[in-house]
Amino acid sequence: IKYVKVDKETCIACGSCGLCAPDIFDYDDEGLAYVTIDQNKGTKEIPEELIDDVIDVFEACPSESIKISNISLKHD
Ligand code: F3S
Repeated sequence: IKYVKVDKETCIACGSCGLCAPDIFDYDDEGLAYVTIDQNKGTKEIPEELIDDVIDVFEACPSESIKISNISLKHD
């Protein structure tokens, strides 16, 4: 995988993603997660060393809100 974003429509602010991968995920004022490296656009490649963390988060998110892809995710 190369790209990641959070579906904020389905995120339930559980907080797992920022715990597992604090270099990639943070939370907005409502506690909803977003990807920090590209403001949740899914357009910037995840640094190689952080990909395993992102996969862990993908599997851990209880609402399946972590969207991962090999191609750039341009729209919501
Ligand atoms: Fe939301 Fe899933 Fe993170 S519910 S806070 S995107 S682990």
